[in-house]
Amino acid sequence: MTEYSEKVMDHFMNPRNVGEIADASGVGTVGNAKCGDIMKVYLQIENGVIVDAKFRTFGCGAAVATSSMATELVKGKTVQDALQVTNKAVMEALDGLPPVKVHCSCLAEEALHAALWDYAEKNNIKIDGLKKPVNDIEALHHHEEV
Ligand code: FES
Repeated sequence: MTEYSEKVMDHFMNPRNVGEIADASGVGTVGNAKCGDIMKVYLQIENGVIVDAKFRTFGCGAAVATSSMATELVKGKTVQDALQVTNKAVMEALDGLPPVKVHCSCLAEEALHAALWDYAEKNNIKIDGLKKPVNDIEALHHHEEV
């Protein structure tokens, strides 16, 4: 049986920030073709600061828990600082994930990046270090496995 930390269970059973933001500053959708899961992240950004973040996912429990934690972590951060909220940072905040579930945390990171990208495009700005998002995380190989 797979072991989940108490924090993962908490964020899975009581996910924070589930929902949508009407007229969001940025929206990002990313899927994982391998498991078929999909994640959508909404960001409300004012003066370069993320004032609200919400998500919807058709994903597994680990995807729910990581999106919940990721949206909690980016709130109040500048768009630049939000890039520090990597899948690794989210997993650490959750006290770890079983190795087979690491890819689920990448879904949250990529959807977050896609929403930031959308915001940057709409406002004609450049966020240093932000790469063009992919639609399917299986196209990525740069994530850190821990
Ligand atoms: Fe697909 Fe977790 S199994 S995101």
